Amino acid sequence: MKAVILVGGEATRLLPLTCNTPKVMVPVINIPFLEHVIHYLSQHQIKDIILAQRHLSQSIKSYFGNGSRFEVELTCTIEDIPLGTAGAVKNAEQYLDDTFLVLNGDIYTDLDIAAMIDFHLKRKAKATIALTPVDDPTSYGLIETNAQGRVTRFLEKPQWSEVTTNMINAGTYVLEPEALNRIPPQANFSFEHELFPLLLDQGEPVYAYTSSAYWIDIGTPEKYFQLHRDLFSGNSARHSCPIGDEVLVGEQSYIHPTVHIRGPAVIGSNCIIGHKVKLTGPVVIGSGGTIQEDSVIEESIIWRNAQLGQRVSLKNSIVADNCRLNDNTTIEDSILGDSVTVVSGCKLEPGSKIWSGTTVEVP
Ligand code: GTP
Repeated sequence: MKAVILVGGEATRLLPLTCNTPKVMVPVINIPFLEHVIHYLSQHQIKDIILAQRHLSQSIKSYFGNGSRFEVELTCTIEDIPLGTAGAVKNAEQYLDDTFLVLNGDIYTDLDIAAMIDFHLKRKAKATIALTPVDDPTSYGLIETNAQGRVTRFLEKPQWSEVTTNMINAGTYVLEPEALNRIPPQANFSFEHELFPLLLDQGEPVYAYTSSAYWIDIGTPEKYFQLHRDLFSGNSARHSCPIGDEVLVGEQSYIHPTVHIRGPAVIGSNCIIGHKVKLTGPVVIGSGGTIQEDSVIEESIIWRNAQLGQRVSLKNSIVADNCRLNDNTTIEDSILGDSVTVVSGCKLEPGSKIWSGTTVEVP
């Protein structure tokens, strides 16, 4: 079976992390998010994957190539205009001649794909939508079903008084190619607001597959952070990282014997962690990072090639690629885009979001 991964959104809610990094290339435990998704599909024997991109992304192309390094076959489609979720899949129609899977490119899940496909085929559905429970359904589109799982109603962002279910669209679909006939070519069209309600109106069999398997979308920095916490605490069944107090150190990295680490922590390759540095997990440090003496890092995610000076204090923050935090800087509850420089002695206002390429000076 083929899968289409939607990777062409604006990713505005993840800014400033996505100033120069496509959402799917954002690292999760030092691995691009998309690699986690491809690995997940591959584990389910789905090896023929179409990446529906809006623009050609050089970083995606050079990292993934034709997919052979990941034992899958990757095809890319590109859009002249933003086509929306369903329009982007229509754009890949030439590759889709049998039942296929669609995934939003910002979702990490343990959903049992084989069981969902089986459910879809047994019911002879035209479309099957994965559902996942949420605590507060009022900011989502809700999907009501009958006892057999057939969709009876779509309800957009309901008031609490209208809430009849806490099940929301989990951004994973099984579709028959005929469903694509309802999508106009080269036009912006969405699954959620257009195609699925249309199929329902026309009496087509649209089903919902309910699962309480681990599910999160990395749409916001908070959720991105939450995914790390969940992986480190083993909440996802896909244990691909240290759990609990474990510490993982990449090749060619040097950790000074006086460093104090409380896991979970992942330190990438070619890092230097200096004299008396203190790391309190969960901490992730990307490859090529240097942390100089007496710096303290707590619950933070640092991407590649970070240069941290002496006595830097970094807490509950995300630092994108190629940032330089000079001596005696204090950063808390903040998000730094790539290539940010924070000059010596600077204390960022908690909650800061710093645009990529910025130099932050002492006021
Ligand atoms: P925000 O701007 O932060 O909402 O992010 P987004 O646009 O990336 O996310 P949204 O939840 O709106 O989209 C769901 C999925 O569909 C994401 O994986 C997007 O990358 C993808 N997507 C949304 N619009 C398009 C589009 O026009 N073309 C393609 N190829 N993918 C899209």
